[in-house]
Amino acid sequence: MTIPLVVVGCGGHGREILTIARAMDAAAGRPRWRLLGFLDDRPSEQNLKRVRRLDVPFLGGVGWLRDAPAETHHVIGIGDPRVRRAVAGRVDAYGTPAASLVHPAATVGPDAVHGPGLVAFAGARVTTNVTLGRHVHLNQNATVGHDCVLADFVSVNPLAAVSGDCRLAEGVLVGTTAAVLQGLRVGRDSTVGAGACVVRDVPDGVVVKGVPAR
Ligand SMILES: CC(C)(COP(=O)(O)OP(=O)(O)OC[C@H]1O[C@@H](n2cnc3c(N)ncnc32)[C@H](O)[C@@H]1OP(=O)(O)O)[C@@H](O)C(=O)NCCC(=O)NCCS
Repeated sequence: MTIPLVVVGCGGHGREILTIARAMDAAAGRPRWRLLGFLDDRPSEQNLKRVRRLDVPFLGGVGWLRDAPAETHHVIGIGDPRVRRAVAGRVDAYGTPAASLVHPAATVGPDAVHGPGLVAFAGARVTTNVTLGRHVHLNQNATVGHDCVLADFVSVNPLAAVSGDCRLAEGVLVGTTAAVLQGLRVGRDSTVGAGACVVRDVPDGVVVKGVPAR
């Protein structure tokens, strides 16, 4: 049985996520997802063209979910954690469940637990005793070490490394190739800039960058 799936957001992140669903189907050797199409309230002309090239329909705005076929699942294809949280709040009003997509070339430890809406891109690595909240996105080759807790709507961008025993609060963005050293906390809605090395706890609602990150 296939599960109907819509991707909310037809920007680059959303279209990359579509390819994860396709890779999962290819690896399983049978279609698991029935890709109904993309939703977006304000798609650019350029992104609509790019969606057409993927041979998947653009369905309309988020309101399309009001009359969605039974069992339709959604995945939020938006990379910015805070925007993703806002959109998830609107999507949740329609009651469609969030799908979790793990690329076949990602590894998620068998004792990891995660909420709905997890997206793990190719090469993402989650090791042991890791807890991931709702709508956590781990981009290509991001790593999350032992005993970490990543709260809802955390994004870890490509090649970033979250060391063991870290706590990332809701809405945290870890930029591309950044490192968070072991045992540290990053506060709610904070951003770790690309290439930064976090060497001490980060408070809520700040941007840190550089090596060491300040
Ligand atoms: C750090 C970040 C959040 C921007 O912070 P900001 O304070 O709004 O940055 P601005 O663009 O206004 O730049 C302010 C200064 O910080 C510098 N800066 C920007 N990003 C930086 C980074 N990652 N590391 C070091 N310095 C950075 C700028 O060069 C600028 O320096 P200047 O004042 O000497 O000219 C952003 O640059 C970043 O790194 N985001 C992560 C992006 C990412 O991971 N993208 C991948 C998507 S898949």
